[in-house]
Amino acid sequence: MINNVPTVFAILVVLAALAGPANAAEIAEQPAVATPGNAGEAERILGAKLLVCNTCHGENGLPKNASAPIIWGLQENYLLKQLHDFQSRDRDSDVMIWMATALTPAELGSAAAYFAKKNWPARPATVAATSPPAAVAVCAACHQQNLVGGLAAPRLAGQKYEYLVEAMRRFADGERTNNADMRRMMEAISPADREAMARYISGL
Ligand code: HEC
Ligand code: HEC
Repeated sequence: MINNVPTVFAILVVLAALAGPANAAEIAEQPAVATPGNAGEAERILGAKLLVCNTCHGENGLPKNASAPIIWGLQENYLLKQLHDFQSRDRDSDVMIWMATALTPAELGSAAAYFAKKNWPARPATVAATSPPAAVAVCAACHQQNLVGGLAAPRLAGQKYEYLVEAMRRFADGERTNNADMRRMMEAISPADREAMARYISGL
């Protein structure tokens, strides 16, 4: 799902530059890999890499890229699992596979912690609040009351409609296979009902 190929290439150039400094002066100032135990250095290096994420996920937490979800304030365990799943290709997304493989395993953990600590961004209401579709009650069993997420399942409340409806469709059509429960549930719900749910959930 790449809707802006030039942007992606520009980003990859930045990531490559961060991974291997181009000249000696840069090497002296900022090594590609932090000296073990030097937390400040690790933070500076990772900080620069994480700025790249903002290109699509937004520097205020509101995504700029149409297909990119809100990741600020998502549960840390969920973020980490997704980054691992992209890295191991258990979850398919050309762009995120590139991004996740540009980070080391240790950096995946730091990236997850970094975005989980941010506050979920306030978003202008785009849809009028509707009454909940009946099946939404089932979702709360794992996604928690009001679908704010928890250890068992990620936050859905207030996520972008376009992303939710597409994520649900991918589970239903077997394109996203990194959770068997979600696949089975989404297969059993009609596309029209999934849309109604996504609309309601994005308005929470
Ligand atoms: C070129 C745009 C782009 C960049 C840059 C980017 N992402 Fe993404 N990201 C996306 C898109 C698009 C998706 C949705 C993928 C899908 O549809 O499955 C996504 C999904 C994710 C998800 C899954 C969220 C969820 O709710 O399941 C995480 C986590 C994530 N990105 C983290 C990052 C991190 C960390 C970085 C920086 C290292 C980053 N992204 C950089 C476009 C981008
Ligand atoms: C049995 C527990 C369970 C129930 C019930 C459940 N989910 Fe989930 N859901 C999960 C888990 C766990 C994940 C994370 C899967 C992964 O690791 O990618 C998830 C992920 C999702 C995602 C993707 C989120 C993202 O950021 O990409 C959506 C959308 C979603 N669920 C919608 C729903 C809806 C709508 C319902 C109710 C009809 C529902 N779920 C019911 C466990 C559940």
